[in-house]
Formats: sequence, structure tokens, C-alpha cells
Amino acid sequence: MLYLEILGNLPEMAKDEVKAMLELAGGRIIGQDYLFLKLDADETAFPYLDRLGLAHEYGELIVEADSIGELLQKAEEVDWPIRGTFKVDTETMANCRHDVLDLPRKLGAVIHAQGFHVNLSKPDTLVRVYCGERVYAGIRLRFFDPKDFERRKAHHRPFFRPISLHPRISRALVNLTKAKRELLDPMMGAGGILMEAGLLGLKVYGVDIRPEMVEGAERNLRHYGVKDFELKLGDATRLSELFDKTFEAVATDPPYGTSATLAGRRRNELYRKVLESIHGVLEPGGRLAIAFPADFDGEEEAERVGFKPVGRYYQRVHKSLERYFYVFER
Ligand SMILES: C[S@@+](CC[C@H](N)C(=O)[O-])C[C@H]1O[C@@H](n2cnc3c(N)ncnc32)[C@H](O)[C@@H]1O
Repeated sequence: MLYLEILGNLPEMAKDEVKAMLELAGGRIIGQDYLFLKLDADETAFPYLDRLGLAHEYGELIVEADSIGELLQKAEEVDWPIRGTFKVDTETMANCRHDVLDLPRKLGAVIHAQGFHVNLSKPDTLVRVYCGERVYAGIRLRFFDPKDFERRKAHHRPFFRPISLHPRISRALVNLTKAKRELLDPMMGAGGILMEAGLLGLKVYGVDIRPEMVEGAERNLRHYGVKDFELKLGDATRLSELFDKTFEAVATDPPYGTSATLAGRRRNELYRKVLESIHGVLEPGGRLAIAFPADFDGEEEAERVGFKPVGRYYQRVHKSLERYFYVFER
């Protein structure tokens, strides 16, 4: 049994990202307590979970209980799979209903009694306690270091454009498509989504209507070590003319506003045509993850061109930008 802690800013999207990866790995979510998910999955799921963008950490779930007393009692009955030294660390979630102040010390004593030594500054094994409606204890296997994503944020890239999704969100969009082989971003801009897909080992295809974006995206991809890509100058509303193949997955973040980035077209008209054009190059059963500003009904338009909606997640970016991320299936 595994546990996984999702990030709190887009929790529904984060949960569906986990679900999508478990569908590829052959596991499932069997419980949720706020940001804490219980997974029916084993180590074969690790390569898929390691792809996640909106996750904080995952690990092996060892014990869970309705009270601190019960947790400690159960902890005595299991053989703790500790490697080297250990430390107990508590995550008090916003819905925590228990007094966990003394728990690290008490649980530490239980584990110590099994012959393991505490090292508070540099433990080999981190025992994680989660407090929500219930209490849980497990062993951390993977921590998603924010620094790994931060170093790919827009201002760290050789080709810099301020209007770019956070790498964690780009990563989640890629994963929500359930791509295993390849991904197309038909409005790639500086290539943020393609970078995340390429780093997962997917072959990436990109299109942009502006030559400087095609050049810039290539610089960015090369800088982060992505080699298997095909980028084209072209129009996202005419994809079937650009490629003589269909795609397993598409993820994109269309322009939201100014006439410059819209290349003179009216925004909603562009969105409709892009949806239609993507539908034309997506494999049956393939998925599209796409962002639209909140004043455009992406679901209605996507259904009109033949997509099936499978997810919708709201995000308020700032006062004048609210958007939805959508996932559609062809
Ligand atoms: C919001 S940006 C994409 C940002 C990108 N996700 C990133 O991380 O850098 C939208 C891009 O769509 C491009 N674009 C606008 N109209 C287009 C069209 N008809 N066909 C292809 N690209 C288009 C713009 O040039 C712009 O680079």
C-alpha cells in the first residue's frame, strides 16, 4: 500500500493527475483524507508516479488509525522497514483532528525499541506521520523537490517569455493526457509544455505561428536536454496540413488576449478552430489537455466538435485572469 500527498493549490487536478498515472501503471486511489491519498499500487507504479507535477511526496503506508493511541499500538505490531537511521516527521493537514504534538517522540520510541537509531539532522529513513480525519504513518520514498521544477521556470530559460505556465502545471497537463509515446503542442510558445513532456522521454511535436517562438522553443528544449523533437512554423488551426500523422496526445495553452499573440484573429473564433483542428489530428481515444480563460465555454465548444469532456479545473491566476484547464477525450 502506498500513500501520496498532493499539492493544495489545484487539488482536483492533482488528484486526477494521480488517477491518470495509476491508470497507466495499473493501480488506483482507494482513499482520500484532504491532501493525503491512499493508493492500491506497488513498486511497478513508481516510474509513473515519478512523473507527477502536482505531488509533494509518496511513500509506503505502514499504519493508519482513528486515534493516536490506536496508531501507536499498531506501530508496535509491525516490523518497521527502516534502513539505517530514522527520524519521525509530522504533517499536520488543515483538517487535522488529533493532538500530534508529542507523536514524533512517542512513535520514535516505538521504532527505536525495534533496534533502530534516531538521527534528527541527517536520517537515512524519514518516517512521515499525516494527521487529517484519521492518522497515518509511512515511510517516504520520493519527495518532489520544488527546486527541480523551479529551475525550469520561464525566467531561468535561455529563451524567455513571461507568459508561460508553471512547470508543475505544464507537467500535470502532459500527464492528464496519459501520453506514453508522444505529445503535440500546437501553440507551443517558448516550449514549456514540450519541455516537461520531453523530459519524460516522450517524442514531442510543436507548432507556433511566430518564427521567433519556433527558434526559442528549440533553444529551450536543447538547453534542458530534450533531443527527440520536431518543431514547425505553422497555424494551429490547420494541423492536418502540417502533419501527415495523427497523435496520441495533445496539450496546449492558447493565447488569452492581445491581438499580437492572436496574430490578428478573433479570440473565440481561434479557440473554436483550434479545437476542431486538434480533433482532426488526435487518435481515437486520445486526450487533449487545454487551458481557456473562464469567459469561454470550452466544454460546450469541445463537445460540439466531437470531444468528450473528462475533467475541468478552475484556477484564478490574478484579478483579471481566471481560467479553466480542461481534459477532453476524442
Ligand atoms: C500562451 S503562449 C504558449 C506558452 C507556452 N505554453 C509556454 O510555456 O511557453 C501561446 C502561443 O500561441 C501562439 N499562437 C497564436 N496563434 C496561433 C496559431 N494560430 N497557430 C499557432 N500558434 C499560435 C502564440 O504565438 C504564442 O506563442
